Amino acid sequence: MQLTGPGVWGAPPDRGEALRVLRRAAELGVTFFDTADSYGPDESELLVAEALHPYRDLVVATKGGLRRQGPGRWSKDGRPAHLRAACEGSLRRLRVDCVDLYQLHAVDPAVPLEESLGALAELVSEGKIRRIGVCNVTRGELERALAVAPLASVQNRFSLADRSSADVLARCETSRIAFVAWAPLAKGYLARQARRLSRAAEGRGATPAQLALAWILARSPLAVPIPGTSSPAHLEENVGAAGLTLEPAEVAALARPLPGYEARALARRLRARAGRLKARLREARP
Ligand SMILES: NC(=O)c1ccc[n+]([C@@H]2O[C@H](COP(=O)([O-])OP(=O)(O)OC[C@H]3O[C@@H](n4cnc5c(N)ncnc54)[C@H](OP(=O)(O)O)[C@@H]3O)[C@@H](O)[C@H]2O)c1
Repeated sequence: MQLTGPGVWGAPPDRGEALRVLRRAAELGVTFFDTADSYGPDESELLVAEALHPYRDLVVATKGGLRRQGPGRWSKDGRPAHLRAACEGSLRRLRVDCVDLYQLHAVDPAVPLEESLGALAELVSEGKIRRIGVCNVTRGELERALAVAPLASVQNRFSLADRSSADVLARCETSRIAFVAWAPLAKGYLARQARRLSRAAEGRGATPAQLALAWILARSPLAVPIPGTSSPAHLEENVGAAGLTLEPAEVAALARPLPGYEARALARRLRARAGRLKARLREARP
């Protein structure tokens, strides 16, 4: 759910609407909700609790391992002490004694992955975490993670526009681990701008967003797309994807690369990097 202010920072522009989206999702049969301590920070978990606690028949997944410095600004912190404190904070905000699924948000290059996951394994033995997940891992990192603790899920970016984690999905299938696909709509691009997808969707009486989500569902029974939305109308539309079954030929036809997307994604990454450099230069000035 994308329910915070711009840059995943601060409160949503319309708190009532954010709560309505969460409650409507549960009414429509959505049972898996993904949040993180760093969304807001804190804000998203507080909204989830306000809307959905006591979570009857729902799985609430949260994450730790990132710190926030401002809108759009994130840094990694996979130290055991940080993860322990982050988990305690999530338990308080989500109003639970045990988190259903606690995910390491990112691998911190300054901390061995084994140490970060070792801390989560300890929290499992203390009854504060039910299952462990990892996010944004390479196939090699996933192998290392599996050697430390049993995993319930891997959450990586995956969509028709970005299939760079296909090898990780294949590895999840081998070990029967859920593969949670973040940015399944390529941040809205697939819903709004992908012309080829629009044409294919028209032919199916569906919308481009529905087709993009149905493609992920068709890729693997272990794939779980988690589209983010702040809009009740988009939520209803996205949930509708679950009723759309694609034939193998359609899955294959859709899988052709989408022209234009890669160039846009690269430009976005370069803009973000330039923004981060400018911010660092500003901070470094005496
Ligand atoms: N593990 C990680 O590192 C990581 C990183 C990023 C995100 N995530 C998780 O993944 C979730 C989804 O990723 P995301 O939100 O970044 O990307 P996304 O789901 O690919 O795209 C979200 C964007 O698509 C728009 N959208 C959604 N449904 C639409 C529809 N039917 N028609 C038109 N536009 C639509 C949303 O706008 P509206 O609000 O207007 O609907 C929003 O701008 C997040 O909420 C978060 O829980 C995880």
